[in-house]
Amino acid sequence: MDDNVFALQMQEITKVFPGVIANDHISLECKKGEVLGLLGENGAGKTTLMNVLYGLYQPDGGRILVNGKEVKITSPSEAIQYGIGMVHQHFKLVDTLTALENIVLGMPDQKQFLDLGPARERLLNLCKEYELYVEPDTEVWKLPVGQQQWIEILKALYRNAQILVLDEPTAVLTPSESDQLCRAIKKLTKEGRSVVFISHKLREVMEITDNVTVIRDGKYIGTIATKDSDQIKLAKMMVGRPISIERREREPNKNPEPVLVMKDVDAKDDRGIPALKNFNLTVHAGEIVGVAGVDGNGQRELAECIVGLRKATSGLIKVKGKEITDVVADPSFIGYIPEDRQKTGLVMDFSVADNLIIKECGKAPYANKNILNLGAIKKHAKEMAKKYNVKTPSEAVKVKTLSGGNQQKVVIARELDPEPVLDIAAHPTRGLDLGAVTNVHDILMKERNRGAAVLFISAELQEIMALSDRIIVLYRGEIMGDVDGETADTIKIGQMMLGQTMEAEDEK
Ligand SMILES: Nc1ncnc2c1ncn2[C@@H]1O[C@H](COP(=O)(O)OP(=O)(O)OP(=O)(O)O)[C@@H](O)[C@H]1O
Ligand SMILES: [Mg+2]
Repeated sequence: MDDNVFALQMQEITKVFPGVIANDHISLECKKGEVLGLLGENGAGKTTLMNVLYGLYQPDGGRILVNGKEVKITSPSEAIQYGIGMVHQHFKLVDTLTALENIVLGMPDQKQFLDLGPARERLLNLCKEYELYVEPDTEVWKLPVGQQQWIEILKALYRNAQILVLDEPTAVLTPSESDQLCRAIKKLTKEGRSVVFISHKLREVMEITDNVTVIRDGKYIGTIATKDSDQIKLAKMMVGRPISIERREREPNKNPEPVLVMKDVDAKDDRGIPALKNFNLTVHAGEIVGVAGVDGNGQRELAECIVGLRKATSGLIKVKGKEITDVVADPSFIGYIPEDRQKTGLVMDFSVADNLIIKECGKAPYANKNILNLGAIKKHAKEMAKKYNVKTPSEAVKVKTLSGGNQQKVVIARELDPEPVLDIAAHPTRGLDLGAVTNVHDILMKERNRGAAVLFISAELQEIMALSDRIIVLYRGEIMGDVDGETADTIKIGQMMLGQTMEAEDEK
């Protein structure tokens, strides 16, 4: 085949949902052996466009060409026949099946009695070839998210995908897993496969793509060769104005009374392994304490212990002098932005309005003697949508139809609007576009300035440096260092994230 033929062309694709034009004449193309980055803010229409490609949605206009020939794709199984593979933004695995079972699930040529022997061998070969290792016989729910992501990718490769769509694959990965994925992608393109790569992390986009197509508000903005571009240019194309994450100016804290006090706290993770060890921390009013660290070093357990979703095995947790160890937090006391907005933060099948009152649905003005006051609920939702800039056609739509960034705004509005004394923000910008990230940063700075104590957990060092008054570094459940945000040094923090203590660092 002529190498100049495009493996994939989407021309003038249009897709309309009630009240939203998600894709308005969008075009993109990708050659054999190339990685095309697809960029755009939350809600720009990236996932919709890829769902059209995968046959999940029928477009209202436009054409799709595979290897130069026009195709009509009316279902995922047809997409697979054309060599298209898709790794969805949110996992589609069956939790109770094993990795291997998930991979063979839905394969067309299955006999009545499934013989998993050859399938296992093929899977193990794929793992080896792309250095994406999974445990074939373990149920998916027991596997760490990184491995779940590998299963999704291996599933597409098992079906021999020649055009692989990865919708924000690195949002849930640790930095070293992201590097691993980059290596696998390079291998795939060397073999002549094409990849469409969606990510909000511009550094990665610069590193692995050949070209980048940018869309904004459902419209095509342009395509640029990665080598002629840089992060600032891409951000400007995406948002329409230059934007970057920098250290925030801040006023001195006038009333730094202790709000959160943790003394000698120990906690275990879901497998019963110690996750927090002899943990001591004080967060003051009007202060943002950033918790830096590679994911999985106790951050989740830390947040869950404070809000009362996990029992501390020993130690003491106080908020404003009141002991709250093992008590589920009062929403007007602690605002909690959990790391997984879809599983813990929202009820995806409930409306935007209902999600906004879910913690206070039994109270006035939302309810009176067990009868919901729909007018008050609607009014509240309209106010919140306006105040927190939630992009939604109406407050009555299911929250699952909103883009990731807008779902996050719903969680933030519900949790922080009651003005709690303590905010626990666990990875609040994960999966958000740059504009939405700065938006969340603005909100957290406002919280600090009104006098809330803010515990800000993130695996992105850049934003920890931008926001924190103090930074603690977590490694295997222990604090490696506690440094001033103003004078913190990225390299030193990076080393503490890998397990060096501050003292060891200072002795050098
Ligand atoms: N099934 C649906 N029904 C109604 N509206 C939808 C549906 N799916 C998407 N939308 C709307 O289409 C628009 C584009 O959403 P899409 O999920 O494609 O954005 P995205 O670019 O992938 O955003 P993100 O970066 O947050 O994942 C949004 O306004 C969204 O609310
Ligand atoms: Mg998306």
